[in-house]
Parts: sequence; C-alpha cells; structure tokens
Amino acid sequence: MKLGTLSLSNTLFLAPLLNVTTAPYRRFCRSFQKIGLVEVPMIYTQRIIKNQKEIDYNLALIEKEKPISIQLIGNHPNDFKNSLDFLNSYNHDVININAGCASSRSLSAEQGGFLIKDLESLEKIINSAVKYSSKPVSLKTRLGFQKLMDIKKFSAIINNSNLEFLTIHARKVKDRFDPETLDLDTLKKIKESIIIPVIGNGDINSPIKAKHMMDYTKVDGIMIGRASMGNPQIFSQIEDYLSKGIYNSPNRSLKVMKENLVLYEKILKNFASKVSLKSSIEEFQFKELKRNSIWHTKYIQNSTVYRTELSKTRNLQSLKFILNKIFNGDLLIN
Ligand SMILES: Cc1cc2nc3c(=O)[nH]c(=O)nc-3n(C[C@H](O)[C@H](O)[C@H](O)COP(=O)(O)O)c2cc1C
Repeated sequence: MKLGTLSLSNTLFLAPLLNVTTAPYRRFCRSFQKIGLVEVPMIYTQRIIKNQKEIDYNLALIEKEKPISIQLIGNHPNDFKNSLDFLNSYNHDVININAGCASSRSLSAEQGGFLIKDLESLEKIINSAVKYSSKPVSLKTRLGFQKLMDIKKFSAIINNSNLEFLTIHARKVKDRFDPETLDLDTLKKIKESIIIPVIGNGDINSPIKAKHMMDYTKVDGIMIGRASMGNPQIFSQIEDYLSKGIYNSPNRSLKVMKENLVLYEKILKNFASKVSLKSSIEEFQFKELKRNSIWHTKYIQNSTVYRTELSKTRNLQSLKFILNKIFNGDLLIN
C-alpha cells in the first residue's frame, strides 16, 4: 500500500507511547500481524544535541524493525537540523515531528502540543525538518491547543510543506485524554482540506470504532495506541473487520494471556542478548513483563486480585511466582 512515497503493508499504525512502545513491545505487537508503521516514541532534540551516545539505546537495532519512524520533540528549527544531522545515519524510514504532546514537561518547555499555538513557528520547524532529513517527514498533532485551530491557515501550511503524511489525534491539547472530547467532525474537516494522506488517531479500542473513524472522516489510515496494551492482536482484529467483516473481540482467556507473556519473554531475552542495556537483564525483563502482565489482566474477568498481586511484585522471581499462581488457578479471583 502506498502512503505518499512510502510502501507499507497497510495503513494501521502503532502509536508512539513513551515508556510503553519500547523496541521489545513493538516487536511483540508486530509478531502477531502486519502493522504498517511503528514509531520510536518522542526523543528530545536537546537530548540528542547534548548527549548523542545516550540516545543510541532508544535506537538500538531499529533497522530490524522496518518500516519504522523516529519521533522528535523540540521547539527550534536549528535543534531539528542538528538532531537530523545525527539521525540521518540511522536506518529508519520516516521522521515524525511531535506537535501534540500534552504533558506538562513538554508544554512548559514550549514543545509538543505547544507548537500548535503558533503556526508560523511550527511552519519553520517543519521546513527545517523537511530540508535536513534524509528521510520523509510527517507531523503528529491535535485539533488545536485550547481552541480549535484555524483550519484554513493550518492546511495552507501543511499543503505547502512537502510533508509525507499527517497524523491527527482528534482532540485539543487542553483536552488531554478526556473521553468526552474526541471530535471526529473537526478531524473530518481537516481531512477534507489536506492534500497529503491523513492518519486518524484517538480512542480506537475496537474494530467497530476503527471502521467508524475511517468511514466517517475518510482518513487514509488509523493509529492505535493504548488499546494495544494487553491486546497486541488488535491490529489483526481491526484488519479482519475492515477487509472481511469478521469481528474478533479480544480473547479473554488465561491461556492466551500466558501464551502472549511467554512470547514476550522470548522477545525480551533475544533483544537483551543483542544490545547493551541500561540495567541488568533481570531488571529489564522484570519491568517489561510486569507492566505487560498487568495490562493483559484487563481482558480477564474479575481480575482485580491478579492486578493487586502483580503490582506488589518487586523482582522477576516474585513476578513469575505470582504469574504461575495465576495460571495454575492458585489465586482466587474476587
Ligand atoms: C503513556 C503514553 C505515552 C505517549 N507518548 C507519546 C509520544 O511519545 N509521542 C506522541 O506523539 N504521543 C504520545 N502519546 C499519545 C499517543 O501517541 C496517542 O496519540 C494517544 O494515546 C491517543 O491514541 P489512543 O487513544 O489510541 O491511545 C502517548 C500517550 C500515552 C498514553
């Protein structure tokens, strides 16, 4: 499938989620199905400029994950140029500019979602990234900061920009993640005024929601983030529904949870054996497996006690002890 100049297997994207969509996580999701594009979560341009070595870890083995995008967050065109001078040597496919992050850290540094406040400055950043990146560039943003953006002004900038595609999280920065605020009407209007492909994002947690966003707004593809946490198969569930009308809901069995976690551990071990980690292998495995175990329990009925016990674990050994108790039926569910 063509998206701008990119050839992708489909237009279902895994969203960048800082501290969630790590390299093992992206591999894990991809091992179940095709995902058109995955993204390395935001890397601060200032971090690259100050300590290039430090970000090597974020980008370890990305050439094995193609197609892949790297997201940059910053607020100065020159910082983007300097970061790209360094990043151009990596084997990625796309550079993405973060103009949507609503975290207080980003906003107080006048980065991420802050950039939608001042479209002239955003345009300078886009121009710098497009000029200095050796790879195609895309932008990820929201519908506005406190108020909806001036769509005419925004689309003029995007349509003039040589960006490859645009991703829009369909709510304003100040809405953060409030479920009441998803606004598909404005996403639809933006899509109608933009000539490059538009990827829609926000609250897609089922094949039905995916189809609704696509049908209603006519976006060219969709990006899924939080709904993959504990349900890495969501991309094939959506694809089956979009292409064949088959609706598969997340599997709620302990058997699937166990199979998924065994696979995750295998991926973790394999990854850890090839890169130099910041912590011990055990600590690395523990942190990744613990949070993924907890997310998986979301799909098991009456699983509060599982989450409570998993949350209390402090090392790999105790985590595995609790997981074994869960899988052997030795922990009573409430
Ligand atoms: C834990 C977490 C981390 C995130 N990190 C990033 C990030 O690094 N870059 C970014 O553009 N968006 C980030 N986002 C926003 C997501 O990419 C996405 O736009 C948002 O979660 C809405 O999509 P969803 O409803 O499918 O999760 C993050 C969201 C969460 C919950």
